[in-house]
Amino acid sequence: MKTVVAAAIVREGRLLLAQRSYPEEVAGLWELPGGKVEDGESIASALQREIAEELTVRIEVGEPVGEPVTLGDNVILVALHAWLVDGEPVAAEHSAVMWVTGEQLRAMAVDLVPADAVWLEDLVGLLG
Ligand code: CDP
Repeated sequence: MKTVVAAAIVREGRLLLAQRSYPEEVAGLWELPGGKVEDGESIASALQREIAEELTVRIEVGEPVGEPVTLGDNVILVALHAWLVDGEPVAAEHSAVMWVTGEQLRAMAVDLVPADAVWLEDLVGLLG
């Protein structure tokens, strides 16, 4: 079983979204940034590593958000609540980043990658 972990980074009632640049099927859609957990790595430290690579910031990681989503054969996607502890996000591997309120997130639900759209109400709930 492989795990992909994604960050629901929240600041002042807004959620950080990152716009995928590849592959073609999801290029232009928005996701919670993250990536694959490597062998021997905890989910939390994998997420901190991926976020440092992708957004050039350090995060603190909290509780899971919503239920895990099955991505395909033997791959699950989990989201963890997270906070910035150092730096300002830069789209090093994405096309762009943006901060959205719960209302804005609902309005752009069709522009989320399919797996992350499952968490829409969980994410809106995080934003209060
Ligand atoms: O390895 P690669 O950079 O292509 O992908 P990744 O960003 O590490 O994500 C691995 C897999 O999880 C891909 O199939 C992504 O589409 C998926 N994913 C997702 O559905 N939602 C996220 N928030 C992050 C990744």
